[in-house]
Amino acid sequence: MSVSPVIRPRRLRTTPAMRRLVAETTLAPRQLVLPMFVADGIDEPRPISSMPGVVQHTTDSLRKAAEEAVAAGVGGLMLFGVPDAASKDAAGSGADDPDGVLNRALRQLAADLGDGTVLMADTCLDEFTDHGHCGVLDDAGRVDNDATLDRYVAMSLAQARAGAHLLGPSGMMDGQVAAIRAALDAEGFTDTGILAYAAKYASAFYGPFREAVGSSLQGDRRTYQQDPANRLEALREVRLDLDEGADIVMVKPAMSYLDLVRDVAEISDVPVAAYQISGEYSMISAAAERGWIDRDAAILESLTSIRRAGASIILTYWAQEVAAWLG
Ligand code: PBG
Repeated sequence: MSVSPVIRPRRLRTTPAMRRLVAETTLAPRQLVLPMFVADGIDEPRPISSMPGVVQHTTDSLRKAAEEAVAAGVGGLMLFGVPDAASKDAAGSGADDPDGVLNRALRQLAADLGDGTVLMADTCLDEFTDHGHCGVLDDAGRVDNDATLDRYVAMSLAQARAGAHLLGPSGMMDGQVAAIRAALDAEGFTDTGILAYAAKYASAFYGPFREAVGSSLQGDRRTYQQDPANRLEALREVRLDLDEGADIVMVKPAMSYLDLVRDVAEISDVPVAAYQISGEYSMISAAAERGWIDRDAAILESLTSIRRAGASIILTYWAQEVAAWLG
C-alpha cells in the first residue's frame, strides 16, 4: 500500500500563478547597479574579451550607455576609470587629478543625469598605479596603509567635487571609511555617501576585471583583501565600517560568499549590497555560450539567490539587461 501524505508542500507549486503568489524573494530594477568602465586613449568602445558583452567605453559612448541604463530603470551606476598605461605612476596621481579619466567622466555624467540616478565611483588606486596595487608602497615594497589613506582622501574629494553621490572605497585599507568621511565633512560634502566594500575577499574570480581595467598588478592582494577561509573577520570588518560611518556595506564577491551576505544582513542597520563580480559574470557567460546552461535562467537564479541571502542592492554587469526583462 502506498503512503498518502497529509502535508503536501507541492500544492503551492502547482501553477505559475500559485508560485508567483507565494514567492518570498523579489528582484526589482531599482536594486541593480551597473558597473561601467571608461577608458582614456580609445576612439571607440573596446570589447573586454573575458567579459563578452562588456566594453571599455569612450567618454562619449559612456554618456549614451549611461542614459540607456538609467532609462532601463537600474538603481545606479558604478564607474571605473581606465587610464592609459603611460599616465600611471607609483602614487596613482591620475586618481585625484580633476582631469583624470574617472573624474572627467563623473563630471560629465553628473551634468547629464543630475539626480536622476545614483552615481557611484570606485575609490581605489589600483587602476592608476604603475605597480597595480590598491595603495602606495613603502620602501620595502609593501602597501603602506596610512600613506594610502591620504591618497584615498584626495581621490574622494576629487570624486565628490566631480559629482559622485556615493564613493566606493574598495582597497581594504584599515580606517579608510573614517578617513574619507572626515575629509568629506570637513569640505562640506556631508551629503556624499560611502558605499563601503566592507568585506572584500582576495578572490581568483576577479581575473576578468584585471583585463577590463588593464591592470598591471604583480603579485597579489592578500595583505589587504581577506582570506576566503575567514568569516568572523568579515563581521569585524563590517562592524568597523558601520562605526566609521558607512552608509551602505558591501560583500564581494557574491556567489561564493552568500553565507557572509546573510551574516552581514543580520548585523547591519544600513542597506547591504553584494557585488556579482567579473568572474561570476564570465563563468555563467562561458557555460551558456557552450550551451551547457540556460543563460537567462541562470542569471535570474544567481541574482535571486543573492537577494534571498539578504542583499538589497546588487552590483552586476547584467543590471541593465535584467532591468529591461523585469520591466
Ligand atoms: C578595485 C576593484 C576590483 C574590483 C572592483 N574594484 C579589483 C580587485 O580588487 O582586484 C573587481 C570587480 C570585478 O571583478 O568585477 N579597484
